[in-house]
Amino acid sequence: MSKKTYYISTPIYYPSGKLHIGHSYTTVAADAVSRYKRLKGYDVMFLTGTDEHGQKIQRKAEEKGITPKQYVDEIVSGIKDLWKLMRITNDRFIRTTDDEHVEAVQKIFKKLYDQGDIYKSEYEGWYCTPCESFWTKTQLVEGKCPDCGREVELTKEESYFFRLSKYQDRLIKHIEENPEFIQPVSRQNEMLNNFLRPGLEDIAVSRTTFNWGVPVSFDDKHVVYVWIDALSNYITALGYSAQDDTLFQKYWPADVHLVGKEIVRFHTIIWPAMLMALDLPLPKQVYGHGWLLLEGGKMSKSKGNVVDPQILVDKYGLDAIRYFLLREVPFGSDGIFSNEALINRINSDLANDLGNLVSRTVAMIDKYFGGSIPAEKVAGDFDSELIKLVGETPAKVEELLDKLQFSTALTEIWKAVSRTNKYIDETMPWVLAKDEANNPRLAQVMYNLAETLRIISILIQPFMPETPEKIWNQLGITDKSLVEWEKSKEWGVYPVGAGINKGDVIFPRIDLKKELEEIEKMSEKAAEANNTAEVPKAKEVQKPAKTEKTAEPPVDETNANLITIDDFAKVDLRVAKVLEAEKVEKADKLLKMKLQVGDEVRQVVSGIAKYYTPEEMVGKTLILVANLKPAKLRGIESQGMILAASDENGLSLVTIDKDMPSGAHVG
Ligand code: ME8
Ligand code: MG
Repeated sequence: MSKKTYYISTPIYYPSGKLHIGHSYTTVAADAVSRYKRLKGYDVMFLTGTDEHGQKIQRKAEEKGITPKQYVDEIVSGIKDLWKLMRITNDRFIRTTDDEHVEAVQKIFKKLYDQGDIYKSEYEGWYCTPCESFWTKTQLVEGKCPDCGREVELTKEESYFFRLSKYQDRLIKHIEENPEFIQPVSRQNEMLNNFLRPGLEDIAVSRTTFNWGVPVSFDDKHVVYVWIDALSNYITALGYSAQDDTLFQKYWPADVHLVGKEIVRFHTIIWPAMLMALDLPLPKQVYGHGWLLLEGGKMSKSKGNVVDPQILVDKYGLDAIRYFLLREVPFGSDGIFSNEALINRINSDLANDLGNLVSRTVAMIDKYFGGSIPAEKVAGDFDSELIKLVGETPAKVEELLDKLQFSTALTEIWKAVSRTNKYIDETMPWVLAKDEANNPRLAQVMYNLAETLRIISILIQPFMPETPEKIWNQLGITDKSLVEWEKSKEWGVYPVGAGINKGDVIFPRIDLKKELEEIEKMSEKAAEANNTAEVPKAKEVQKPAKTEKTAEPPVDETNANLITIDDFAKVDLRVAKVLEAEKVEKADKLLKMKLQVGDEVRQVVSGIAKYYTPEEMVGKTLILVANLKPAKLRGIESQGMILAASDENGLSLVTIDKDMPSGAHVG
């Protein structure tokens, strides 16, 4: 019988700038699942790659004065290096610039056109280049991209459209009937309530204003919209529509597409509609994971953080980094990355719990029995409880890994680690060792330790590519059949008489204080070296928007303390005139004001009541941060923020020194 197949993908990455540890999040998770499924005997197809077309890439290349292909080639090789560093075991790496992919996308586009699912019309709307997203006027928020708040460009062009609206009802039905399709469940409701039920519109799927994309084969003024191009990778990588489509026949439909939560929408609406139009089965699951954010807050800001994957791996080792990524945050939720949290995890879970267990076990077998456990053994107290707990662990780990619950799967394994450490305290081998008559019992205790470590070493394989081998070496396990996945479910497999090898400490303890000081120095140096810093500093944690559309995970590519002119340009400062002002009841610091900003009137609430009376305020000319997200202060909406200088002695409002009409730009 042929093996069961398992097809898992990550998104294909935009080759756009410096890579940080957040980028490896999806890929490390997908790698852990892939390793697990292979260990379980599946024939795995693990796909990752790069998404290389689009206006964004073309512009970046233009800025650098090189061709888009030159630009992507360099970054793609950096991405491949990162996957090597993280020991990612992808079976395929697709680039959307690969000839086979380009051809297949052209065929898909043509097929949809021929059958009437794509039609030619005219597009008028707003385009957000950083997000590569189209918006209608009503979707814009204060004239800006509703996802990222950046400038959008009015585009009016001839365009091909995909009949997305036609698939709305089928999509809703599919999601409702297949609760496993979108996971976690919260994302399911978000898609249904925010996008599907309100109604889908046909989407523009070609562009004519730039050319870095897949040309539409029958109308070469047009290039295919980058998301249509990118999403197709999941089937083109398998040879869909090619002469040899064996891989496609074998692996499609995918078992799971792992994606960051900001791109769930593309994967659960546009992509399935495309597949329906192509008359292909849908992926069994789209799993939207959370973001890894950087810690902010004043204290940690001064400490700095290292997010460069190469530096992290050099400093702490690959397995520690992978462990942290998968253990620290429940998959699906957002989590915070900080060097402090990382070091604490390494010290407690890895150095103290697992590393120590290995060292103690091997040292005791060496000391008491000269390096190998004798055959004569006697069971005693505490054994059955240990064996029971360890015996139940593999099934729990499997169940959790099948649900992509990496963090809880690791928690289960670490329960076994802790139980085993406790077993040492309970059995007190050093007391047994005082009397030779206890040797058979002492041998049993040693055996139980070695045996639990054998089981644990099997179970950590999906997460840690390096540590299991180290444990096997130290325990003297040379026959790899003893550490096959299924052998984690058997007790008594460790070979009596195996010679242990005392080795290095697997996870050395890190001096937290010293290490954080060193990181701080690195961050400072990098900051001095200019703003293309290797080592970005921490920045405030940004809460993701409620409806997670295409906003980007807020981890910076460069030094977060320095901003570029583009960053500054995002702040929309305007001249504003105070029309009305009044005190806010029961809030002695707040004033509520009506401001004239061009032909708009804004309500702003500000904490200036201790320094200015309402009467004084009326008629003043102020500077307003006009594109600040509205916030509620004491239940009153504030649509912007006015600028003021302040220290512990007082506050003074910022104004301008010659009269200007309200609404005028400041910058
Ligand atoms: O979205 N935390 O590519 P991408 C967690 N090309 N995940 C993060 C992260 C962070 N800080 N930063 C990035 C694209 N990611 C498209 C995909 S698929 C047909 C096209 C994750 O390079 C992000 O959530 O912007 C996404 O899953 C992946 O990295 C690639 O993001
Ligand atoms: Mg992205």
